[in-house]
Amino acid sequence: MTSFIHVNKSEKKEVISRHIYGHFAEHLGRCIYEGIWVGEDSSIPNTRGIRNDVVEALRKLNIPNLRWPGGCFADEYHWKDGIGPRESRPSIVNNNWGKVVENNHFGTHEFLDLCEQLDTEPYICGNVGSGTVQEMQEWVEYITFDGESPMANLRRENGRDQPWKLKYFGVGNENWGCGGKMRVEYYADVYRRYQTFVRSYTDTPIYKIACGPQEADYHWTEVMMREGLGRTEPIPDEVVTDIWEHHRPEMDGLALHFYTRNRANYDSATEFTEEKWFDYMKRTLVMEELVEKHTAIMDKYDPEKTVDLIVDEWGTWFKVEPGTNPGFLYQQNTLRDALVAGINLNIFNNRCDRVHMANIAQMVNVLQAMILTEGEKMILTPSYHVFEMYKVHQDATLLRVSVSTDTYTYGEDSVPMLNVSASQDESGKVHISVCNLDPNNAEPLTCNLDGIGSFSKASGRVLTAEAMNAHNTFSDPNRIKPEAFDEIELKDNEVSVTVPSKSVLVFEVQ
Ligand code: AHR
Repeated sequence: MTSFIHVNKSEKKEVISRHIYGHFAEHLGRCIYEGIWVGEDSSIPNTRGIRNDVVEALRKLNIPNLRWPGGCFADEYHWKDGIGPRESRPSIVNNNWGKVVENNHFGTHEFLDLCEQLDTEPYICGNVGSGTVQEMQEWVEYITFDGESPMANLRRENGRDQPWKLKYFGVGNENWGCGGKMRVEYYADVYRRYQTFVRSYTDTPIYKIACGPQEADYHWTEVMMREGLGRTEPIPDEVVTDIWEHHRPEMDGLALHFYTRNRANYDSATEFTEEKWFDYMKRTLVMEELVEKHTAIMDKYDPEKTVDLIVDEWGTWFKVEPGTNPGFLYQQNTLRDALVAGINLNIFNNRCDRVHMANIAQMVNVLQAMILTEGEKMILTPSYHVFEMYKVHQDATLLRVSVSTDTYTYGEDSVPMLNVSASQDESGKVHISVCNLDPNNAEPLTCNLDGIGSFSKASGRVLTAEAMNAHNTFSDPNRIKPEAFDEIELKDNEVSVTVPSKSVLVFEVQ
């Protein structure tokens, strides 16, 4: 059989925000400490305490934004503990993640230094669950205020004269769970209160992100769009409209969290049969339904699409690697993770009308990581390679694809075999990313580009391996990496390829 793709220009120009390719680094296990921060006195080469090897590898991904300090950690984090001379910072217990004691050596200045080293935008998540409104207001003032003020002066005392640029700010994390176990009816009001004091001190307005739903909690989205956003509230007769507008809460984004996992019984990241391969492909595709249904609710209250859907936690969640601390969420990363990454990114690309940002969990040594470290050693995971291959979609114009594909059947169940997205960059080059979910069969694919341009050259790269669970290890770091893919035929604006089984293929047509 053969699959077909017809690539279409959208009626209106839709841009795939580069922020869909965002990342997340939490004070969790060995993500920050060891994975990123080793301290200035470490024998591991570093710049002001931040590992050079990790920064060098991550810079190749063109990371657009980095979410920090959590996660669940954010709603227990008091930022003033993490500023000033390191030796006098208080220690804290990381209650969510293994109850380890942290010395607070990685705080606001170190995080913003990391962002500068990575050339990425910070996305800070504030503490609603156990922090005060004042604390949140002062954090933004500390980071962004240019004039003379108590917080700006404190920043200067701590060695930073110029304010940093900060746009993205989260008002709490998972406030339905670790962030305070709130009902949405309650959080909606808490959000309105806290966001009031998250002030913009510069020409770059703060982009405020509210805690959104867990998975398929559509009630959460409904209430947040109705009450949290408050746009449908009637304007009292006696109030002049523009003054009322001024008093409305601001919400730029609503955060959805969805992990590809089996919560009833966490599975191994590396030891699995085809049954579990299929299971994880199917679980990943649920993201499409979630984005669609949450978007439909948002459309009802916000047809102009002024509020974005922000998928600021997604990725695989497996059993931790044997012998490691269960609170550290350290897992290996195989070809299966690469497919999960490729499918999710295709889904976000295709829904870029509402999805402005997404953040894979997490950047180093935690969950579906880009990088794993062991002492001074570092390896790149298959998921890293997918982000590197897909970076061509960042800020490119979405091309809508009509896909007619075979199915991948396992037992009684099946999923579409190919999963696709496409975009065109400023220079006119078209990039098509294709995931073949079937671990047993390669699939011939024909791709029609009529109406997009006139093309004469095609090339590609593929990520695949012999085994479904192929992964890189510290003794075999390059077992799985992208390879050039030359078997592409281009004739009369039609591209023909055979997509290898269990692969992520990105090809370029110009
Ligand atoms: O990413 C790990 C954890 O998953 C985060 O801290 C939390 O927000 C989510 O439940």
